[in-house]
Amino acid sequence: MHRILTGGIVVLAALFAAGCEKKTSTQTETPATGTTGQTGVQTTGTTGSAGTEGSAGTAGTAGAPATGDVILLGEVGSLTGAQATFGISTRNGVELALNEANAEGGVKGHKLAVRVYDDQSKPEEAANAATRLITQDHVKIIIGEVASTNSIAMAHKAQPAKVPMITPSSTNEGVTAIGDYIFRVCFIDPFQGFVMAKFSRDHLKSTRAAVLRDTRSDYSMGLSEVFTRKFTEMGGKIVATEAYAQGDTDFRSQLTAIRSAKPEAIYVPGYYNDVGIIARQARELGIKVPLLGGDGWESEKLWELGGSAVVGSYFSNHYSPEDPSPRVQNFIAAYKKAYGGVPDSLAALAYDAARVGIEAMRRAPSLETSAIRDAIAQTKDFPGVAGTITLDEKRNAIKPAVVVQVGDTSSKYVATITP
Ligand code: PHE
Repeated sequence: MHRILTGGIVVLAALFAAGCEKKTSTQTETPATGTTGQTGVQTTGTTGSAGTEGSAGTAGTAGAPATGDVILLGEVGSLTGAQATFGISTRNGVELALNEANAEGGVKGHKLAVRVYDDQSKPEEAANAATRLITQDHVKIIIGEVASTNSIAMAHKAQPAKVPMITPSSTNEGVTAIGDYIFRVCFIDPFQGFVMAKFSRDHLKSTRAAVLRDTRSDYSMGLSEVFTRKFTEMGGKIVATEAYAQGDTDFRSQLTAIRSAKPEAIYVPGYYNDVGIIARQARELGIKVPLLGGDGWESEKLWELGGSAVVGSYFSNHYSPEDPSPRVQNFIAAYKKAYGGVPDSLAALAYDAARVGIEAMRRAPSLETSAIRDAIAQTKDFPGVAGTITLDEKRNAIKPAVVVQVGDTSSKYVATITP
């Protein structure tokens, strides 16, 4: 049963209309200090020069010194490259969770530290980094990645090595299907694609939609497939399907073809860096209908790249900072104090992923990776800031999604859609 909860919309909007601000948790380029070889490495807690903007001190206290007594976790993220805000937000969320856990005494009498590798937003680098975390660093849990294609590359290393991996935010169905050591704390794309199909049919009353997808992204291809199927099942018509490859800069011919098909909405399930440019070119070509997207739009850089062209469009996401619950608001306050901005959904999910891992290590009878794996698999009713987490038999979390509308400087909560 799916339903759109409209009751909460008014309440949230009324409570938080005045307090909304643009998401400013991160900057684009963060140098990965301590770079060794192909990937940047930092062990937070050892140097204090982790390169987190305005918060190097915080990064430096994120983990205990890497001595023999410390439980080392690993994280792989896009700290640089095309989707750098994904990696930076994720790292911040993980660090915050570790700091809090260490302040509570750590796990089984040990402090926690995290070693972070920058994969430069590339799947090959993500795979290399996972290998390094497994064979050199002997980490207990790997957290990452954000982009599904990168998580898939990592999971192929973590699974055979039997090192538990928790992706905070990769939504493509195939990620956790790689094996029983691979988990996620977010919903999956068969649901996310449904959410925007439902929203465009029920809320926007669209009958004709076009799709513009990224052929180099498992995430984008998966979402466009689901959206197309669901929108059609709901009585809508897909009037055009066009493709691009991540990093392209000229989308005019695809957009021109879409324009001639006269859609009422255009689904663009890509990442913010491409979406910003696509939106600008769409408006330049006179396309006025709303663009619709998925969680990949989530970045403060969306406005920088897209300007007014993105305003008024909609995307599905994992959480809203407008959620008034104390759980969410306390997290936002702690994050702001540490990093100086409102946490985006990447930061929220990373915080949740690290906490699920930490809680599992506390529950596990030993710190063998197989025992940790079993404990993670038993996660039930975990109070995450991006929703309550119960892992199903496929190691996925079943959670509601929110739909937000892009405003002038931030996204505004519009609806919650439950599975
Ligand atoms: N869900 C996206 C993927 O699987 C990643 C993402 C999650 C991006 C949340 C932004 C916010 O590729």
